[in-house]
Amino acid sequence: MAAIFVADTTTRYEVAVAVFYTVVIFTSARVLRRRGLISLAAVCIVMTVISFVFTPHGDLEAGLINMGISIAAIVMIAFLILKAEAARTAAHDAQAQLMRIARVKSLEGLTTSIAHEVNQPLAAIVTSGNACQRWLAQDPPNLHKANQALDRILSDAGRASTIIARVRSLTKGAPPHKGEFDFNKAVLEIVAVSQTEMERNGTRLATELSPDLPPAFADRVQIQQVVGNLVLNAIEALASVPVSTRSIRITSDIKGDAIVFAVFDSGVGIPAGVYEHLFEAFWTSKQEGIGVGLSISRTIIEANGGQIWAEPGEGAGAVFRFSVPTTLQEKRE
Ligand SMILES: Nc1ncnc2c1ncn2[C@@H]1O[C@H](COP(=O)(O)OP(=O)(O)OP(=O)(O)O)[C@@H](O)[C@H]1O
Ligand SMILES: [Mg+2]
Repeated sequence: MAAIFVADTTTRYEVAVAVFYTVVIFTSARVLRRRGLISLAAVCIVMTVISFVFTPHGDLEAGLINMGISIAAIVMIAFLILKAEAARTAAHDAQAQLMRIARVKSLEGLTTSIAHEVNQPLAAIVTSGNACQRWLAQDPPNLHKANQALDRILSDAGRASTIIARVRSLTKGAPPHKGEFDFNKAVLEIVAVSQTEMERNGTRLATELSPDLPPAFADRVQIQQVVGNLVLNAIEALASVPVSTRSIRITSDIKGDAIVFAVFDSGVGIPAGVYEHLFEAFWTSKQEGIGVGLSISRTIIEANGGQIWAEPGEGAGAVFRFSVPTTLQEKRE
């Protein structure tokens, strides 16, 4: 700055050395804050004016014009730097906010997933609780039936708490608790939970489970969660078709080394162009839906080494299929 000042003062009016103050301002912008930068620009302007006053020779008019240009350049560069700085701060703030939102969103996703998955066992507990009350209110009370209802309540409550633990470990990327189990038995256990709902809305259910399945090798509770989600979606897809045409067919088969499970429904079906969105989180066509059922199901099935996909139904409706590894596969590996 001193060099510029000396040069500006000692050279003729026609030489606009003062514009080099812009270089000083530009290089100081990295270390100075807003106030410092404004003060520096003000000092540069004052020094330009002082140099003008003390410049001994040259054309006065050219000197005035040059001083004006230099001051304008100083003001402009300071203004542009401050504006760029403000834009950078705004971008940084927005990014920080976005990260906060993403964190809250993933927490919200976890909460939503747990709420969604635990809803089914909770509904089953309420149903069994009501049944238990009815058995006890009989005269004489039917203790045997009441006891059965209590057993169901206990097992559903156990399932609910296991589901919470599994969904939590799923979102943390923890591996599933894999083990051998009878696939058809696990399916029937879950289908039984939805049976009352199906009877209430007049849905016919056909189960065609292959009797020759090898044991599945996966996380039993998680596979039951997926079956529950698919059956629930099928029931919901039937809500807007006439009662006389409501039917669900559940099948299990062996394909290669894997078990393939399918839920066929005669519901509204899936419009073309929607298939690629079905398994996305928060994608829903339902007023009351959250859109997490299929996305959780896909995460679960893939974590267990299988695949899940949807196809148009036979005639009407939709088919959802998933594959699960078996012990055959496990032994080969
Ligand atoms: N059996 C089916 N027939 C037709 N459409 C279906 C079927 N299953 C799922 N879908 C479509 O896929 C969408 C996503 O399903 P998903 O289970 O992920 O969420 P949802 O059922 O809408 O809400 P929720 O989070 O409560 O399960 C549904 O909204 C529906 O449009
Ligand atoms: Mg669903």
